[in-house]
Amino acid sequence: MRALTWQGKRSVSVEDVPDPRIEQATDAVIRITSTAICGSDLHLYELFGPFLAKGDVLGHESMGIVEEVGSAVTRLAPGDRVVIPFVIACGDCFMCARGLTSQCETTQNVEQGTGATLYGYTSLYGSVPGGQAERLRVPLADFNATKVGHELPDDRYLFLSDILPTAWQGVQYAAVPEGGTLAVLGLGPVGQFAARIGRHLGHRVIGVDPVPERRAMAERHGIEVLDMEDATSALRDRTDGRGPDAVVDAVGMEAHGAPAAAAAQAVVGVLPDALARPMMQQGGLDRLTALMTAFDAVRRGGTVSISGVYAGTADPVPMMTLFDKQVAIRMGQCNVQSWRDALLPLVEDPADPLGVEDLVTHRVPLDRAPEMYETFQKKDDGCIKVVLEP
Ligand SMILES: NC(=O)c1ccc[n+]([C@@H]2O[C@H](COP(=O)([O-])OP(=O)(O)OC[C@H]3O[C@@H](n4cnc5c(N)ncnc54)[C@H](O)[C@@H]3O)[C@@H](O)[C@H]2O)c1
Ligand SMILES: [Zn+2]
Ligand SMILES: [Zn+2]
Repeated sequence: MRALTWQGKRSVSVEDVPDPRIEQATDAVIRITSTAICGSDLHLYELFGPFLAKGDVLGHESMGIVEEVGSAVTRLAPGDRVVIPFVIACGDCFMCARGLTSQCETTQNVEQGTGATLYGYTSLYGSVPGGQAERLRVPLADFNATKVGHELPDDRYLFLSDILPTAWQGVQYAAVPEGGTLAVLGLGPVGQFAARIGRHLGHRVIGVDPVPERRAMAERHGIEVLDMEDATSALRDRTDGRGPDAVVDAVGMEAHGAPAAAAAQAVVGVLPDALARPMMQQGGLDRLTALMTAFDAVRRGGTVSISGVYAGTADPVPMMTLFDKQVAIRMGQCNVQSWRDALLPLVEDPADPLGVEDLVTHRVPLDRAPEMYETFQKKDDGCIKVVLEP
């Protein structure tokens, strides 16, 4: 089959790779109908080379049609239409029982010291082939494929794979008080949905992003918007001088606005893998611009909820400010399976309350994925979300 493969820093290509097949009795194989490129894929494209091998198949936002199931699969049959959570979990261990599927103890990567296995997401998370491909093997398929109807278009369901539950969890973890104000830093796909979910739940939402068309999209959904210049003082000005009650960081470690850290990341990018790996895990190379804005801007006693991905050791974290301001912080990989019951009715609602049909700016065949990685990374051509149709 054809699949999008990682080849090196800022280099991906569509290649012939072996067809996935049933390896365990609990597996299913699906034919992909839609698969999206995520901001998290940009970290692989730019930074995570030391943890990838040439030829790794990327992609973790996928849906399609079941083609084949293993003998132990009971809830799926060929022909079923499914959307696939990016987190692979078992559904019945200690962590899964508590809703923490991204910490699943059955699929955890113990030797790497990381949580649950993810599709297409490096040797840190199990090196499982991803879904930017014609077909995908789904392990533990009864729990890791969400069956949906056949009537509505793919866009209604596709984002249940990642960005919708990620945004939902980010807003839940933000614990915005009744009548409160939520600031969302970053209006990429995750930030767009976090902001809309905040509005849907009745909060006042202020979104921050340097890219005009991303701010314009948020405005269409009733979000107040700000450029990132002087975001902290602008947020305070709009909240009686206190700052928002809660801030979601939907940016992560590739934030704009920190040239020194960008240079350090670039240095690690040219080191041999054996040297680069420990530096990425412990070296404090992150660009913390957005996170620092979150800590600074949130009101005293408020909550910071981090959806953006960070790596390395964050140094320096402003411990005195966090302690003095009594800030609550939550973060983590999304527990995708735990939010599907809350989100399914919203994406199926004819009124489309979260606007899932107003996000995708680019829809192309799989063959054009390499060019779309570049367009999405550079935010060229008004690109906000890319869907590939294998
Ligand atoms: N926690 C999870 O499970 C999970 C799941 C999916 C994505 N993510 C992460 O969420 C983050 C966002 O993903 P995305 O798909 O929306 O990516 P994206 O790269 O399209 O969005 C990031 C946005 O942040 C903006 N930005 C950059 N610097 C900023 C700053 N200093 N202040 C304000 N805005 C700034 C950019 O202009 C961009 O619009 C990524 O780090 C991604 O890895 C996490
Ligand atoms: Zn993703
Ligand atoms: Zn589990």
